[in-house]
Amino acid sequence: MHAWICSNPEAGPEGLSWQDVPTPQPGKGEVRVAIKAASLNFPDLLIVQGKYQIKPNPPFVPGAEFAGVVEAVGDGVKHLAVGTSVAGFAGTGGFGTHTVCPAAVLMPLPPAFSFEDGAAFLCTYGTSYHALMDRAALKAGETVLVLGAAGGVGTAAIQIAKAAGARVIAAASSDDKCALCQQLGADATINYSTGNLREELKALTEGKGPDVVYDPVGGDLTEAAFRSIAWRGRYLIIGFAQGQIPALPLNLALLKGASILGVFWGEFAKREPANNAACLMQLAAWYMEGKIKPLIEHTLPMSQLKEAFTLMGTRQVRGKVVLINEG
Ligand SMILES: NC(=O)c1ccc[n+]([C@@H]2O[C@H](COP(=O)([O-])OP(=O)(O)OC[C@H]3O[C@@H](n4cnc5c(N)ncnc54)[C@H](OP(=O)(O)O)[C@@H]3O)[C@@H](O)[C@H]2O)c1
Repeated sequence: MHAWICSNPEAGPEGLSWQDVPTPQPGKGEVRVAIKAASLNFPDLLIVQGKYQIKPNPPFVPGAEFAGVVEAVGDGVKHLAVGTSVAGFAGTGGFGTHTVCPAAVLMPLPPAFSFEDGAAFLCTYGTSYHALMDRAALKAGETVLVLGAAGGVGTAAIQIAKAAGARVIAAASSDDKCALCQQLGADATINYSTGNLREELKALTEGKGPDVVYDPVGGDLTEAAFRSIAWRGRYLIIGFAQGQIPALPLNLALLKGASILGVFWGEFAKREPANNAACLMQLAAWYMEGKIKPLIEHTLPMSQLKEAFTLMGTRQVRGKVVLINEG
C-alpha cells in the first residue's frame, strides 16, 4: 500500500512524503479498508503542523475522514463484512490507499451515498448537528448566524439549520463566498471583510440579534458576534481557523443572559456513541430526503494532498476538498 507519511510535524504539509509501506493486518476489533476517497478537515492541517489538541506520535499517516470498501476484518468484528462500503472517522490514516482502524469508527455507507459524499460527511455534518441541535437546542423560527459559512463545517451548518426550520444569516470573507452560501439556502449574507458585522446584524434582525451563533473562525470576529447576540442567545465555540483564540469579557454573557457552549464532536462521538449514532441516523435520513448534501468544489487525486492543504490554508476552499484514489 501507499500513504502520505508525516515524520516531522514541525515541517507542516511540505514535510509529508508519499511512501510505499507494508499493508497492515487488522487485529482484534479492527478492519482494513481500501480507501476510495478521503476529505480534508481543518484539524488535518493543524495535525501536520503539530498545532492540534491531539498530537499523534510520528511517523503517522494523516487524514481523519475517508470512505472505502472493507477488505479484511479482525476477530470479533460482527457488523462489517468484506466488501461492505463504509465511511469512517478515525482521526488519522485516511490519506493513503488503505488503512486499518477500529470497526467502531466505521459506519456502513447507505447505498444512496457516493464514496465522495461519504468521505465528506461525518465530521462536518456530525459537528454541526451536535452543535446546533444538541448543544444549542435550535428551534424552528430562530435566527442562526454562521461565521466562516462557506467552509466545510459552515456549509453543513447552513444546510442543517435550514432543515431544522431556522433562519440563517451566513457570514464570510468575500462576495463570492456569500453568493455560494445563498445558493445553499442562507436567507441573508454578510461579507465581514467589507461590511460592519454588528451594524448589518442589527439591521437584519430588527435590533434583536441572532439567537444562535456558530463560530468556527475565532479571532477578532468573536467579540463582535458575541456583542450582537440576542437575549438568551447561545454562542457555539467550534474552532479557531483564523489562528487566534479570542478572550471574551464575561459581563457580556451576563448582560444578554447568554450561554457560551463548547463543541468537540470527536470527543462527543467517543464518549456518547449512542447519542452520536442517533444524530448520524437523522443526518442520513435528511441526506436521503435531499435536504443536505456536501458541497464538494475540489476533487483531486490523492497524490495532490499538498495542493489541497494549500487551498485550505489560504482560505480558497468553498465547501469540501476530496481526494480520490483512482483505479
Ligand atoms: N469543534 C469541533 O468538533 C470541530 C470539528 C471540525 C472542525 N472544527 C474546526 O472548525 C474550523 C473550520 O473547519 P473546516 O474544516 O470547516 O475548515 P475550512 O473548510 O477551511 O473553513 C474554515 C473557514 O474559516 C475561515 N477562515 C478565517 N481565517 C482563516 C485562515 N487564516 N485560514 C483558513 N480559514 C480561515 C474561512 O472562511 P472566510 O474566508 O469566509 O473567513 C474558511 O472558510 C476549524 O477551526 C476546525 O478546527 C471543529
